[in-house]
Amino acid sequence: MTSQQVQPRVVILTGASSGIGRATAQELAARGYRLVLAARRERELAALARALDPSGSRVLAVPTDVTDGTARCALIEAARAHFGRVDVLINNAGVTVERGWWWDDPDPLRVLRVNLEAPIELTRLVLPEMRARQAGQIVNIGSVAGRIPFNGMYSASKFGLRGFSQALRRELLGSGVEVSLVSPGFVRSEMTRAARLPMPGPEVVARAVAGVLERPQREVIVPPAYRLLVFLDSALPGVMDRLVPPIFRRRYAHRRK
Ligand SMILES: NC(=O)c1ccc[n+]([C@@H]2O[C@H](COP(=O)([O-])OP(=O)(O)OC[C@H]3O[C@@H](n4cnc5c(N)ncnc54)[C@H](OP(=O)(O)O)[C@@H]3O)[C@@H](O)[C@H]2O)c1
Repeated sequence: MTSQQVQPRVVILTGASSGIGRATAQELAARGYRLVLAARRERELAALARALDPSGSRVLAVPTDVTDGTARCALIEAARAHFGRVDVLINNAGVTVERGWWWDDPDPLRVLRVNLEAPIELTRLVLPEMRARQAGQIVNIGSVAGRIPFNGMYSASKFGLRGFSQALRRELLGSGVEVSLVSPGFVRSEMTRAARLPMPGPEVVARAVAGVLERPQREVIVPPAYRLLVFLDSALPGVMDRLVPPIFRRRYAHRRK
């Protein structure tokens, strides 16, 4: 490759084994990005990497538990060893309290470890290289739940991730490192499999992620219809106190015994 040619960007994508992460991997592979896919389920990850790139040179699967500090370092090292650098980090891996209420969960703080602590620690690992090169992108997958509170532990993690993203974006202004937040509403995935709501597929979020890689943005709410609910929650929280619990009950209908 001559210096005139633009090198494909190298993307680390967490939570790539299903849902939004899987759809994002497919979208970015089709656009020519080099991918490092991370999640815990090895078989799903390896099958996706093979399907996207049978040659094994453009897409790398690195089984990773993002809550494990050693595994996080190994992920970054694997990306550098294979591709020589990391241009983009997409913090997509996420969990919620699926069954029952968060206060009944024996380990509710795992939601904070996966959704908030891991993105912060991974960012800390890639930032020195990006700042030195004066180029790079961090994309965090937040949630409309980081705007409209409804599930204590999940909203705590996503409000935290939104605060982190937007503060980091300001801290890095002018550094060449861009920070974007993509905040989905309900979309079909393993996380929402029990929800009784009409939902678009995860591809809508994958396209939004591809969009911010081309043009970084402070925050993208997707699907756009959720912007109205976000506005309502900040302007008329009392109205939303009446609207949100019924939606929440449908989302978590399986909680009813
Ligand atoms: N679906 C929605 O309606 C919706 C709405 C707003 C925001 N989001 C956000 O979108 C992101 C993706 O969720 P999704 O809807 O696509 O759900 P999903 O299908 O359940 O995917 C979650 C992904 O996170 C990975 N993951 C979970 N714990 C992990 C860990 N400790 N280490 C590494 N990877 C881990 C899972 O892989 P393994 O199990 O293989 O580790 C999986 O690939 C999450 O951040 C979620 O909060 C989703």
